[in-house]
Amino acid sequence: MKICVIGSGYVGLVTGVCFADLGNKVYCVDNDIKKIKNLNSGYIPIFEPGLDELLKRNFISKRILFTTNLKKAVLSSDILFICVGTPITKKGDAANLNYVFQVARSIRKFINKFKVIVTKSTVPVTTGDRIEKIINLKAKKKNFEVVSNPEFLREGEAIRDFRYPDRIVVGTNNKKVIKILENLYAPIINKGAKYFTTSRRGAELIKYASNAFLATKISYINELANLCEKIKVDITDVSVGMGLDKRIGSRFLRAGPAFGGSCFPKDSRALLDTGKKFKTEFSIVKSAVESNEKRRVLLTKRIQEIMSKKFKNKIITFLGVTFKPNTDDMRESTSLTLIPYFLKKGAIIRYYDPSGKKDIFNKYKKVFYYSNISDVCLKSDLIVIHTEWNEFKSIEFRKIVKKKNFKIFDMRGLYSQNLMKKEKINYYCIGK
Ligand code: UDX
Repeated sequence: MKICVIGSGYVGLVTGVCFADLGNKVYCVDNDIKKIKNLNSGYIPIFEPGLDELLKRNFISKRILFTTNLKKAVLSSDILFICVGTPITKKGDAANLNYVFQVARSIRKFINKFKVIVTKSTVPVTTGDRIEKIINLKAKKKNFEVVSNPEFLREGEAIRDFRYPDRIVVGTNNKKVIKILENLYAPIINKGAKYFTTSRRGAELIKYASNAFLATKISYINELANLCEKIKVDITDVSVGMGLDKRIGSRFLRAGPAFGGSCFPKDSRALLDTGKKFKTEFSIVKSAVESNEKRRVLLTKRIQEIMSKKFKNKIITFLGVTFKPNTDDMRESTSLTLIPYFLKKGAIIRYYDPSGKKDIFNKYKKVFYYSNISDVCLKSDLIVIHTEWNEFKSIEFRKIVKKKNFKIFDMRGLYSQNLMKKEKINYYCIGK
């Protein structure tokens, strides 16, 4: 099929490349000339394992084209995916839909024959209705159908999540369109994905409801971890014991620092905003969001206790600073709270992250990036295991720190307390 993906950011690029890899002809459109130029020269602006190889393969076989020419892309395509960003607005919790509506206004004049217009961007309930009104001002209603088809891609696992999703959610009552999208997704459905259709608003809500629920699940286990620290219970056992109940499920029950990323915080807050708009209270999601924000402060207190509030000229080393492994994304990462906080207390901060140096820390004089684990840990007073990158899972700390008394604060439960005790290492951990 011929499809056009509008917005070549994280979602658009992964969606475009993966659809191309299924044999479709894909126009990937963006109004950022520099970004399109880079993509045409094979440079990918995002850190997503496997994406560069997939992009190159499909670019060479001309299944995917990168262009700023929206008109040509729309006229040549049957299905148009809107994949532009919907960031949180400055003032509050609402999603900023300006880019989405700008796309709707731009494409409506090019609708020369029947087009399926798909919102893949995460948009609040009823956004599809508003897009439809905008397009209808210039295009005949019989010439298009606006459909919701939310993505459930996790950063670092996006290609796998695209190819092997639990479900494909399509929001439309138009039988013809349901068939068209079922054909487009056929290779994925044939591998076992559930093709689930509902109303457009239903599909829009499923996205927010899913992310807010997963975020709530994480806040729930994080609060249980706080109790476990006080009653000397291992939260990992609690997670496993709970997760064996199929109604609960074992995934997204790992205690850690506050949840971060570009989605959980944004989407949970956007759902609260939708609740406000429709005078429906989301007290549970609200408390999960608040609990997550409080957790960042709670972790600074935990580190103060570990360090007996002595920070002046102490070397605090962060293993990982991104919000999760296999990404370079720093958005809403807990390290963005912890590092400035301990700098102010007079600490010297070092960090190593497999995804590389972070510009965001350049403004601090006493934050130093190291390019490997041994150098960054040498002579540290406190080592904070912040992100669970695989290479942090079996470090011989005694060998590389070369200091008698150093401490470890394991925020991801990567190590066993008994082993650390045997090594006579002062080991602290979330939830134990
Ligand atoms: C999330 C959703 O999983 C995905 O379906 C949606 O499309 C986009 O948002 P992502 O934000 O990439 O994906 O990351 P995810 O793997 O969900 O983790 C989000 C946050 O929760 C991270 O900070 C992670 O560290 C944290 N987390 C996740 C936990 O603390 N414990 C867990 O068990 C799982």
